[in-house]
Amino acid sequence: MRCVKTVLCLVLVSTALVSCPAQSPGIQLSEAFGNKLPTTGVYDRALDAKVDALLSKMTLEEKVGQLVQYSAGQPTGPGTNRTDYNDMIAKGQIGALFNISTAKEVNAYQHIAMEKSRLHVPILFGLDVIHGFRTEFPIPLGLASTWNPAIVEQASRVAAKEASASGVRWTFSPMVDLSRDPRWGRMAEGAGEDPFLGSAMAAAYVRGYQGERLDASDSIAACAKHYVGYGAAEAGRDYNSTEISEHTLRQYYLPPFHAAVNAGSATIMSAFNSLNGVPSSANPFTLKQVLRKEWGFRGIVDSDWTSVAELIPHGIANDGEGAARRAFLGGVDVDMASSLYHDNLAHIVQSGVASQEQLDDAVRHVLRVKFALGLFDNPYTDEGKESAAMLRPEYLAVARKAAEQSFVLLKNAPGPSGTPLLPLSSDVHKIAIIGPLLDDPASMLGTWAGLGDGKDVVALRAGLAQHLGDGNVFQAKGTGFTAGTDEEMADAVAAANKADIVILTLGEHPFEMSGEASSRSKIDVPGRQQELLEKIVATGKPVVLLVFSGRPLTLPWAFEHVPAVMASWFPGIQAGPALVSTLFGETNPSGKLVVSWPRSLGQIPLYYNALSTGRPADKADLSKPPAGGDDKYVSRYIDSLNSPQFPFGYGLSYTTFGFGGTDISTRQLNAGTLNASLGGDKGVLTASATVTNTGKVAGDEVVQLYVRLQGTSTAQPVRALKGFNRVTLAPGETKTVTFSLDPGAFSLWDDQNRLAVEPSHVTVWISGDSASGTPASLEIVP
Ligand code: NOJ
Repeated sequence: MRCVKTVLCLVLVSTALVSCPAQSPGIQLSEAFGNKLPTTGVYDRALDAKVDALLSKMTLEEKVGQLVQYSAGQPTGPGTNRTDYNDMIAKGQIGALFNISTAKEVNAYQHIAMEKSRLHVPILFGLDVIHGFRTEFPIPLGLASTWNPAIVEQASRVAAKEASASGVRWTFSPMVDLSRDPRWGRMAEGAGEDPFLGSAMAAAYVRGYQGERLDASDSIAACAKHYVGYGAAEAGRDYNSTEISEHTLRQYYLPPFHAAVNAGSATIMSAFNSLNGVPSSANPFTLKQVLRKEWGFRGIVDSDWTSVAELIPHGIANDGEGAARRAFLGGVDVDMASSLYHDNLAHIVQSGVASQEQLDDAVRHVLRVKFALGLFDNPYTDEGKESAAMLRPEYLAVARKAAEQSFVLLKNAPGPSGTPLLPLSSDVHKIAIIGPLLDDPASMLGTWAGLGDGKDVVALRAGLAQHLGDGNVFQAKGTGFTAGTDEEMADAVAAANKADIVILTLGEHPFEMSGEASSRSKIDVPGRQQELLEKIVATGKPVVLLVFSGRPLTLPWAFEHVPAVMASWFPGIQAGPALVSTLFGETNPSGKLVVSWPRSLGQIPLYYNALSTGRPADKADLSKPPAGGDDKYVSRYIDSLNSPQFPFGYGLSYTTFGFGGTDISTRQLNAGTLNASLGGDKGVLTASATVTNTGKVAGDEVVQLYVRLQGTSTAQPVRALKGFNRVTLAPGETKTVTFSLDPGAFSLWDDQNRLAVEPSHVTVWISGDSASGTPASLEIVP
């Protein structure tokens, strides 16, 4: 795997030994600021002549055909009742198909397009390859918790190799929606609540999918989705409306999309939600003004599944033609699944409601992607090479490493020996494994697992049995996800009583409670799981709780009474080996939270990069009901702390790390100078801190850099992530981690919605999470 450009070497200039590493990328700090479009893929101008030559030969119907996309396999949305694809392809009426996943099926359709259609325009085949194709990696929330864009890039490269071997040249990934609300089931599919980390992950996915060259046969086109604001669904209810000011949109929700575009993402998917009253799949401001004009995007805007037809229930169209017109004029090129472009677009153009030029532009976007993928030269997939391309040992190794780095150790209090319960000591010989997730391999895959197959998964129970011997692992479900019997509960208690230690696997059903259309109004462990937890803890046996979920779960009782708790997300195909090696200390957990972990549902939305209020609660004792005065009339709850259970960026290790103070290279910067180079990646300030491994084992620490700007035209977050780096430290070792900050790190969206650096007081922290660190400060002068 290529080192992520020279990014790290530039960005994370560690005085000690942090070379351009395989494990530790970080991010070019300017990635989401300004346009840095590549010159390859859909930005390769040499393709334009080919596109135009073909376009000039096309009839109106053939042009419309390029903008039509249907699902030809397992539906991933409401039914759309079409089956006559062969005939339509032969007539040039379909540009793209999706949900087909074998080379044989793909080739069968492609032969029709290449041999029977008049102009032999290949079909573009897509699929939701979300966190792997056959080799399934942790869910995207888990992948993001690695804080390791290099492993995300490797994982998506593997996914591209496997998917392309089956003829799939387009994935509807990455989902780069920022999410501050864990009620929303699709939080599982994203990178959490932060735009900077989200931008790093977005770019890493795109690089991985699209590879060095999009026209290489093992590259696939990325699709950054869901543009835009979908993650802010009101009350966390999927598909719900969003209200996001332009300021908040630009400063928080748009940057990951911009980073994906800058990384060359060939396509973008428009979202289901309405945004400030205008549905995102018919929104000229976001689709035309921002995406095309400001960012210079040259690829396809694909609608989401029937999101064109959904403009009718949204209430901005009264019939199919109206919906097609709104979507098309709003900037959607391709109609996924609703058939309304097929039925209406020709008439919309003929009647002059949309111009020929607008149609040509949309078709250009599609043809450009097809040329960029090399589909005209290589439309078919070699069926003979398909199976050998899957599940290769080196892919499984990436999946295992990604899983190991995704685990976030939330609590690790002393066990019977007086030392932290994890890693398990060699005195542990008999383990009871209890809970609904203990043994079902498929449940380890999580939402949108595509072609992931339970039979390829090594689950936890099997992993433990390999480690300890089958006779030493007692298993009892205790309860299902939502229901269980008293007998099952009693069996679990009996199993616990036979063991030295209990591993309790609690959480959510991987597909029914997490992912699309899986919003929850309570985010605890459902059914009788809490009861099971309390009964097992009551046995007095030491308990390690593994939480499997696509979101943080409110588990206050567990955090008080269980000594060791680890957020395990859904770890993917290598779940068992990764969990066992972590539990027994062969690997040291190093994941960090990418979402604030709430104490209670009532705190949601809860995110670290919030604004201060005019009445911050800094001086109040929030652990008690308000006493009056400074304690009462401040922004607080009368019945809860404001702080999360665990902050963004938090995660424990089997070792401990000590941070020195934050050192900065200058106490003064000039706003004019910074504005003049805004968007560039030249460093204007270096910030560094020493990090020491103060414990007894080697470990990785994700070193994070946060900034606060005060005295600015718009209120800025109390902290905003502007850099991170994963470093490995031997016991006793100290490294100086140095970040080179470019002007973007000090920029903001101002009160006129312009990106700018303003005169301000700047605080900089280098720390192990978003709630600690010793700051340094500087002034940005006019
Ligand atoms: C609907 C989902 O919102 C989207 O993420 C997915 O890519 C499409 N269906 C296609 O399956």
